[in-house]
Formats: sequence, structure tokens, C-alpha cells
Amino acid sequence: MLSISDRVKSLKGSPIRRLTPFATAAKKRGIHVYHLNIGQPDIPTPASFMEGVRNAKIDVLSYSPAMGIAETIDAMVGYYAELGISLTRDDVIVTIGGSEAFCFALQATCNPGDEVLIPEPFYPNYMGHSIMNGNRVVPIRTRIEDGFHLPPMNEIERLITPKTKAILFSNPSNPTGVGYTHAEIEGLVKLALKHGLYVISDEPYRELMYEGEATSIMSFPEASQHAILVDSISKRLSACGARIGCLATRNKDVHAAVNKLCQIRLSPPTFEQLGLVAFLKDKNHKRDIAGIVRKFHARRDTLFDALQTIPGVVCRKPEGAFYIFVQFPQIDDSEAFAKYLLTDFETGGETVMVAPGADFYATPGRGTNEVRVAYVLEEPKLVRAVEVLKAGLATYVEEKAGVAAR
Ligand SMILES: Cc1ncc(COP(=O)(O)O)c(C=O)c1O
Repeated sequence: MLSISDRVKSLKGSPIRRLTPFATAAKKRGIHVYHLNIGQPDIPTPASFMEGVRNAKIDVLSYSPAMGIAETIDAMVGYYAELGISLTRDDVIVTIGGSEAFCFALQATCNPGDEVLIPEPFYPNYMGHSIMNGNRVVPIRTRIEDGFHLPPMNEIERLITPKTKAILFSNPSNPTGVGYTHAEIEGLVKLALKHGLYVISDEPYRELMYEGEATSIMSFPEASQHAILVDSISKRLSACGARIGCLATRNKDVHAAVNKLCQIRLSPPTFEQLGLVAFLKDKNHKRDIAGIVRKFHARRDTLFDALQTIPGVVCRKPEGAFYIFVQFPQIDDSEAFAKYLLTDFETGGETVMVAPGADFYATPGRGTNEVRVAYVLEEPKLVRAVEVLKAGLATYVEEKAGVAAR
């Protein structure tokens, strides 16, 4: 009998994309949809990157080296050096986006049945790839009231079992925007050293910090054998379609293991690696990133202020990334609410798409009154999108109350 594998059957798809068919249908009805659901910035990719792609002189578009083009790796090492992160070309591997990097990190370090500790809410694809690798996600519970900062380390330590293999997190975080403090990362490092765990730190939003600075896992020399850095240019260069990321580790065994995984998937994209080299060689690259960061900073403040106008809303101003995780205590099924906005609601010919919260958690029942909002649109659009969201929430709550009264 033909059947789909159990692991794939247990995947839920992404909460960020699952409702897209409803958005497409709304657009077909002539409704404008504000996309606050996906971390896809509207900011132009830096010109130097695009020129690097256009100017690449290639006669045969051959496979690139499995671990990346040497020039790209060197350019990445230079980028880290500028940030005070000391890596060599033997530590860095080019991957097909950050997605492949954390997928490889799990595959290289965890056996089926092993457990991975992840602060929740988390980037939902961590769950998807953990499932595909046969691993169990053990959530570290964080709370909106604490700005999603980590609980005390002794609470986290209690979650560690003989099956625990790794701690995985994004910093600053998708979906909460929390930027973990140096003390928090240090606490995780201490736990990793004490219990022999890998620390997989996903840092694509590193520069997108508006309060303080992101602490890289690579800044703890004592964790050199435990630390695996996951990175991506998707966000900081507004280059999601480039599909360029990297995995960096000073652990030679992990590096060799990931090399094997690279060989069986052949190679990362060529043009985009050359685009990245051109970008990093351009003397203005820091200025370009700073310009992108400034835009997101202003958007964060605008979105946060706009959200405060929604009655009952609970959210904290995040330190970084480009998301706010928002609680609406008046709803109990944010997936139904997000769907309603696309199927049954519009105001002035407009509606809004948000990512429902439950799939950002491993704990059943959590996140059902929460949504993730991405500030990836220009400020006036964000302000209008929140007005639409506010109107949609009011109508949804009213209609639900009407149904309950009948
Ligand atoms: C924390 C985090 N890691 C990884 C990714 C995937 O990035 P990439 O486009 O590089 O695969 C995302 C994308 O949203 C993300 O937010």
C-alpha cells in the first residue's frame, strides 16, 4: 500500500504560510491584504549585492564547492572579524539559507529519540526539522510578561535528561524579538558545558537589535567544542531569495560531519554567493546594513505604538529582530481569528494576514490567543494594517459573542 511517511504526516506545515490560499482567494475578490504574517522585508536588497550577481562572469553554471566558494567563505570570515567574532575559513560552511544550517546542525549532532531544548515560543521550522530528524522538542517556557526572557537557569536545568543533546534558539528571537542578555547566553553555555550539550545559536537577526547588542555564541571561547553558529543573509540584507546562510563551528568533528551532509546535497547557489562577496567587498556594506537596521527600528516603534491602541492587547516592546508576539485575551483560537480576517472580514477593501501563535509552541494549548506580527512593511502601511487588525478583532469578538448568545 502506498503511504506517506509517519514523520511527514506529523508535520503541520508552517503557520506562517498555511493560510496563504485564503489570502490568495481574498486578493481574487479584490481585497488588499497587508502581509504581517511572513518575515519577508520589503526593503530593496543592497545594490552592490545585485551588481555582484549581474556582473558575475560565468560560462558554465557548474556545481560550486559543497562547503561554499572559497572567496565567499573568506568574505564571511572577514564579516565576522569586523564584528569581533574570530573564525577561520576552516570553521565556516556556506549553506542553502539558515534553514539548511540548523537542519544540518540537528542532523550532525542528534540521534533519533534525542531531545532538543528550545525556548518557546520558537521559530516553527525548528519543530518541523526536529520531527524530521526524529528528535523531541522539549520547550523552555518563557512568558510574555517577562518579555520572553529565559526563566532561571535551575528551571532550565531540570529539563535536562540523559537524552538531551542540544539547546537551540534564535537570538534575537523569531517570533518574540527578545534579545537574550549576555548573562542569559552565558547561563546556557554553563549548562551546556556541565551537561555535555551542543548550543545551536541561530543569529540571522544579529544586527537587528534596537536595545543593546546581540551576544553571539561564538564569543564564548570556553564553549568552542559545544557552539554551533547558524546564520543567514536573508534578513540583514533583505535577500530571502538568495538562499545563502552558513554554519560555523570550531568543533572539527561537527565540521567534518556537516561536510558529509554538504556533499550529499551537492552545493549552495553560485550567483548569490558571488553577490555576497561583492556586497562584503563594497566599502559601504556596513552603512547599507545600518540603513536597514534604522528602518526596522523606526518600524518597531511605530508598530508597537499602534498596537497599544487595540483594547486589551498584551505585548512587550522587543529588543530586536522584526516581530512582535501579541496576545489578545479576548480570543481563544488565533488560527480561527487569522483565517476569519482573510475569509470573512474586510474594511475599506482591506484586510490583514497574521501568523497564528499555537504552532510557535510545543506545549499544547499555549499560544491560542496569540499571533505573530512582522514589521516588514513601511510605517504608514503598518499603521493602517493595525487599524484594520483592530477593526477585524472587534468584529470577530462581536460576531462570536452573537453566536454564543443565540
Ligand atoms: C530564526 C530564523 N532562522 C532561520 C530562518 C530561515 O532563514 P533562511 O531564509 O536563511 O533559510 C528564519 C526565517 O524566518 C528565522 O527567522
